[in-house]
Amino acid sequence: MPARLDHTIVRSRDRFAAARFLTELIGAPEPKPFGPFASVPLEGGVTLDYLDDDAPRIVSQHLAFLVGEDEFDEILGRIQERALPYWADPYHREPQRINHRYGGRGVYIDDPDGHSIEFITHTYVTG
Ligand SMILES: [Fe+2]
Repeated sequence: MPARLDHTIVRSRDRFAAARFLTELIGAPEPKPFGPFASVPLEGGVTLDYLDDDAPRIVSQHLAFLVGEDEFDEILGRIQERALPYWADPYHREPQRINHRYGGRGVYIDDPDGHSIEFITHTYVTG
């Protein structure tokens, strides 16, 4: 494998609010201040660096997280506890449902800045 993703920047209106939205859902520690970023280290060594951006429009990114079956249950429980809208599909056509694609489960939510967050228990990559 020639390269592994190390970090990427996620633009947000409020970097700590956006980073906390994610860490609270996945049950991760508080985001860490790192320069102008609110950093969220993830399994596998990749870090999401949330950065404040006051541009008129934040371009939506898609962030997909592979989680275990138990973690998926916990995350879905937190989504439902918070009464957040969620969908089985990326086009928001199947509200308040999850999908069962690729032999696993999946769900989509929007974060406070409109980034599309997906949680899956099975990777799309099937070899
Ligand atoms: Fe995806």
